[in-house]
Amino acid sequence: MTHSIKINKVAQSRVSQVELNNNIVMGTQFTDHMFVCDYQNGEWTNARIEPLALIPTHPAAMALHYGQAIFEGMKATLGKDGTPLLFRPYENAKRLNHSADRMGMPSFPEDLFVEALKQFTALEKDWIPTQPGSALYLRPFMYADEPFIGMRAATSFKFIVMASPAGPFFSRKIKLYAEKKYVRAVNGGTGEAKAAGNYAAAIRPTEYAKAKGYDQVLWLDAQNFEEIQEVGTMNIFFKIGGKFVTPDLSGSILAGITRMSVIDLLRDKGYEVTERPITITEIREVSEDGTLEEAFGVGTAVGIAMIEEIGNADLTIKLPEDNPVSVMVNDTLNGIKIQEIEDTFGWLVEAK
Ligand SMILES: Cc1ncc(COP(=O)(O)O)c(C=O)c1O
Repeated sequence: MTHSIKINKVAQSRVSQVELNNNIVMGTQFTDHMFVCDYQNGEWTNARIEPLALIPTHPAAMALHYGQAIFEGMKATLGKDGTPLLFRPYENAKRLNHSADRMGMPSFPEDLFVEALKQFTALEKDWIPTQPGSALYLRPFMYADEPFIGMRAATSFKFIVMASPAGPFFSRKIKLYAEKKYVRAVNGGTGEAKAAGNYAAAIRPTEYAKAKGYDQVLWLDAQNFEEIQEVGTMNIFFKIGGKFVTPDLSGSILAGITRMSVIDLLRDKGYEVTERPITITEIREVSEDGTLEEAFGVGTAVGIAMIEEIGNADLTIKLPEDNPVSVMVNDTLNGIKIQEIEDTFGWLVEAK
């Protein structure tokens, strides 16, 4: 199915005013355009790319009150011949619709999602940084814009894609605070959806963790504060006795696209990877008996974040200094994204 997307270009791009390749901080600068589509009377209409601008919003827009708002995060890079590349965009399309379903929002046609991302990224090609480890961060999102006060699913929504150039995240190792008071998600809740409210719930606990000298919260299960779930905006992997484990998708964890790619990559390199419940007690024990070898967080924004310590008032788990497999995973994923390493998995989609 082909979709017609109207394109209204800016008269003059702002890209020359931005230092794209000087460690630009993700989320601080935005590209010239945005993709917008409206949901009205039960269908998505008026797909268009237009100059990035403020969006008039009624003060009763339901997203502002009841939180019907979901988003995605993905990155575009430049291939060897300068073609913009998207990383597994169909997975983001599927996850957006999974989130939409949980939040009582309409699904967005997956082929239109990918087509919009392709056309939008092709138009914003000059904004893709080329500094090693950098990319153009793409932020698709959907929210309820119907003005109404009362608790029910909205009937009008906007789906928008905007983009922000993102410099490399410097690979300083991170310290995680194993949170035992606050929870991010419970089974049956919205943890599996990429819902704006999940992030709102995490803001204060993350501030507290930072004030205690940690970088991010390590979320534990809401009943017993024992099973490890995920980290800030990342899923987590441990290497124990030569094999990898990552928490299984229990229903309250975000199914990360980096997570599924890292599982495939590690298995392809001959490592055993098991998705299963992992308790903080187990991680303390394998740390004490010397079999805990590596730990890292994985997510689109950061890539691979090596972990140096997990702790809280009762616990300090130090990770070994060397993390050769984590480095290999990071370098391989980055290499595939810029076609320095062959994409044998078929993950890349050309945006042209
Ligand atoms: C809560 C949470 N977990 C995990 C991830 C990693 O997901 P992905 O690899 O798709 O970016 C993210 C980022 O989107 C996230 O926000």
